[in-house]
Amino acid sequence: MTGQELRNKFLQYFKDRHHTVVASYTLVPKNDPTLLFTNAGMVQFKDIFLGDEKREYTRAVTVQKCVRAGGKHNDLEMVGRTSRHHTFFEMLGNFSFGDYFKKEAIAFAWELLTENYSIPEEKLWITVFKDDDESETIWREDIGVPAERISRLDEEDNFWTMGDTGPCGPCSEIYYDHGPEIEGSPPAIGSDPGDRFVEIWNLVFAQFDRSQDGSLSPLPSPCVDTGLGLERMAAVLQGKHSNFETDLFTPLIKDAAKFCGTKDLNNPSLKVISDHLRASAFLVADGVSASNEGRGYVLRRIIRRALRHANKLGAEKPVMSSMVPTLVKQMSDAYPILKKN
Ligand code: ALA
Repeated sequence: MTGQELRNKFLQYFKDRHHTVVASYTLVPKNDPTLLFTNAGMVQFKDIFLGDEKREYTRAVTVQKCVRAGGKHNDLEMVGRTSRHHTFFEMLGNFSFGDYFKKEAIAFAWELLTENYSIPEEKLWITVFKDDDESETIWREDIGVPAERISRLDEEDNFWTMGDTGPCGPCSEIYYDHGPEIEGSPPAIGSDPGDRFVEIWNLVFAQFDRSQDGSLSPLPSPCVDTGLGLERMAAVLQGKHSNFETDLFTPLIKDAAKFCGTKDLNNPSLKVISDHLRASAFLVADGVSASNEGRGYVLRRIIRRALRHANKLGAEKPVMSSMVPTLVKQMSDAYPILKKN
């Protein structure tokens, strides 16, 4: 299944279940000084969660472009070291604004993964927040996941907040087991799941608003905010152990290799270059330009890191401009979905 088919299937599944398809939000959040970049699908819905805005729908589905390269969620230094981290990525998400809650959110996710995407049940592992008996009961009794594939984690892993402040709540994550040939251990407090057990989908049960002093006040009504990583799912469905071996990345990796004069497609620097150029292209498209402060400074760091790795590989000409045609193709593949209302 191509990345594009994967996006379409996700949107269609939730459309069939009365979700309104909403276009991706810009990477530069408007009127939100608490965030550097849009880092999750829920960002454009923040005011609905907080009860400050009403729309004509209570269920939504999106394919959201995200950047995690600054602020609370920052994966910049991880890129190139793992098979699964990015600065720019797409998050597939379904949302409930005071409509359905845990039971339906969990049932939707399980059905879509195991029936529509045909992932074998035994490959999926579950985490729930340490105090969340309700979610664990749903997973065990309604869905039938055996207790040995469910673990309880603490705030660090299973309590999601968009930034230092804002909507937040306990979450339940779904992991995919890439198999014993890959290093890593099942999700547990203090263990490193590595590239073997990869978190693919996070179901957040948004119930609180965190304020500057850290205190939590309840949201007007409980909401659902989920995020399934497109690139990680593409790896699963394309039988690859690395996001960089999927159709979303191989054209970029090949171009980068060509221009850097290397034949070793597994060289980690190629991951860095392709990831960072993708992020830079999407940031520039959303109006960010390199500068000495704020968002512009982050963009500059991303570009510099990419060029440093290109240099390391001995790139003779400016790799960035050479890769433009591939990036444009990627963006035009993604845009009909990202822009669709
Ligand atoms: N907002 C949640 C996340 O980004 C779904 O993981």
